[in-house]
This record gives sequence, structure tokens and C-alpha cells, in this order.
Amino acid sequence: MQTEKIDILSGDRQAGIDRAGEILRRGGIVAIPTETVYGLAASAFDDNAIKKVFEAKGRPQNNPLIVHISDLDMINEVAEDIPATLPALAKRFWPGPFTAVLKKKETVASRVSAGLDTVAVRMPASAAARDIIRAAGIPLAAPSANVSGAPSPTTAAHVLADLDGKADAILCGEDCSVGVESTVVALFSKPPRLLRPGAVTAEELREFLPDLIIDKAVLSEPESGKPVASPGMLYKHYAPRTEAFLVVGDSRDFIRFVNSKRDCAALCFNEEFPEITVKKLSYGEKNDKKELARNLFAALRRVDTLNAQCVYIHAPDKSGVGLAVYNRLLRAAAFKVIEL
Ligand code: TXA
Ligand code: MG
Repeated sequence: MQTEKIDILSGDRQAGIDRAGEILRRGGIVAIPTETVYGLAASAFDDNAIKKVFEAKGRPQNNPLIVHISDLDMINEVAEDIPATLPALAKRFWPGPFTAVLKKKETVASRVSAGLDTVAVRMPASAAARDIIRAAGIPLAAPSANVSGAPSPTTAAHVLADLDGKADAILCGEDCSVGVESTVVALFSKPPRLLRPGAVTAEELREFLPDLIIDKAVLSEPESGKPVASPGMLYKHYAPRTEAFLVVGDSRDFIRFVNSKRDCAALCFNEEFPEITVKKLSYGEKNDKKELARNLFAALRRVDTLNAQCVYIHAPDKSGVGLAVYNRLLRAAAFKVIEL
């Protein structure tokens, strides 16, 4: 299938994979599925292709990209001085939603890492993503395939809504099974630092990195003017157009609170849905944080279809994958939190 504005390739067929590889080798940009969110890929060695990725997303130049590899050997093409902690982490979490920030090799285009001397690397679990990297024969830098600031795309339809006409092609695959972006860890820093929470949890990482610390920016608004370890955590992000507030409290209080706000909507847990009398969406069961993560970004996109003046989002607890969900919601709500 083809639209007038973008090549739509099938992830089920080798021909689609091969075509994506060819476009990428020639300096084009292609949206690809991964298990976390769709990515907008380009050769990590081609500064001009990377420039196109930043332009298509409207992404601030100071926010570096993640480089995706298909096989462990490929890491040596992009990083050097690999820390002693990496092999065990790679064995446990790769392929999967884990990203290691390492020392960058000169060969990586400087735009990829926004001028930093480090590079973020991950091996995705999605077979389609790894097949595309192999077909291209080069590591692929890929940020999430959304317009900068919008919720990340977890379906091919989300990508088309944001980037039709702005990328050379999209390779359509399955909906993303994880639903939030990878866990990002700075391994070279002492102690190692969790920069962005994801489906690989802080609890799991501490089995390998007992001294892991959680960067302040994960749960708080960075002070303006101060340098940050992960520039991507700086911005209002993942936000629906509807003004959002994050609400912390138990279900009984949440239901009472939103039912008193007639012009606003609620993004709630399944268990609360029947008792809410204002416009509403649910994003999963309260205690199934993997389900909440999987549904989160699609729900944030659907919030705007409710045409409400604002939306109150019920926050999950912060244990396990809950930390990743809470972290994204904080930014979707531009750090406006209501404690009941
Ligand atoms: O799951 C994912 O990681 C997805 C899929 C496509 O793989 N990609 C993704 O990319 O989320 P993006 O660009 O939306 O987020 C990259 C994050 C940002 O928060 C950025 O600041 C951080 O990784 N990052 C990248 N390189 C870094 C570096 N050298 N040092 C510190 N943080 C870095
Ligand atoms: Mg992103």
C-alpha cells in the first residue's frame, strides 16, 4: 500500500524489510516498530540523515538519540571503553527495553548525541526492528516517531497521524507490547544512574547495579538553567492538547474529586470507570502496571477526543513499572500534581 505522502511497507514481508534497509542505507528516514514505541530511524553514521530526523519531529537539537543495534558485536561500532558491568546486563536485558549510556566512538554522527561524548545504545526485542537493522547493515539512531512533545506512538496509525509526509517510509508492524520507552541508564557514571525509567525496573537493575541511583529529574521538575544528565527529561512531554493534571490518592477520593468537576474528564483505572459520572477513559487495572504502561500513550491521544476543558489523570503507585508510568504522566501534566 502507498499513500501520496509516505511509503507504507509491510513488516510481515521480507520485501518491506529489504526496502526499509535500502532507504536507510541511502540516507533516508524510516519509522519502524519496536516493542516499546515506534521509532524514527536513520543511519547513526550519517549526520545529514540525523538532521532530517530532528527536523521531521521538530525536536530540540540538544536532545540526543538512542542508537539501536541488532547484535552484540555491533556495540563496538558505536561505543568504546565498555564498562565491566555491561556484559551481564546485556545478557539479562537484551534484546529488550534497556538502554545503556556509554562512551561514544568518533564514528557516530555528532548530532546523534547532541555533541556529548556519550552514546545511548539499545538492542530492541522486536524481531522486525532487528531485521531492519540487519537489512540496513548499520546501527540506527531512532527517537520515538512522534512530533516532539506529543505522546509517543504505539501503533502505526499514531505514527501516520504525526509524521505522514515527513518521513520517507513507515514499516507497519504489531502494536507495541511494552508501550513506554526503554529504561535509560548511564553506566559510565559513578555510581550508575537511572535517567529514564521503563519496563526494565530499578528493582531488577539493582540485582546487577546495587549502587544504582535514580536521577532527580525522574520525579521532579529540573531547575531551569542547571545542566541535566538526560536532556529528554527536561520538557513538557507526552502531553495531550487538553490541559492535564496528575492526581494522587485512593480510588474513593479520586472518584469523589472528579465527579465534582463537571467540565473536565477523568483518565482512570478500570475498577473506577463505572462510578465516574463525567467524561472518562480508563487505561487498565490499578495493579496491572504493565497494562497501564501498554495503554498509556494511546489513552493520552484519545483524551483529546473527549473535548473536555481539562483531564484529571489518576496516578499509579511508583513501584515496578509504575515508576515509568508516573514519570511520563508527570510530564504530560507539566508537573501539575494534585494530592488528595
Ligand atoms: O524505547 C525507546 O527507547 C524508544 C524506541 C524507539 O527505541 N526510543 C526513544 O527515543 O524513546 P527518544 O529519543 O524519544 O528518547 C531518548 C532518551 C532521551 O530522554 C534522551 O535524553 C536520552 O534518551 N539520551 C539519549 N542519548 C543520551 C546520552 N548520550 N546521555 C544521556 N541521555 C541520553
Ligand atoms: Mg521521545
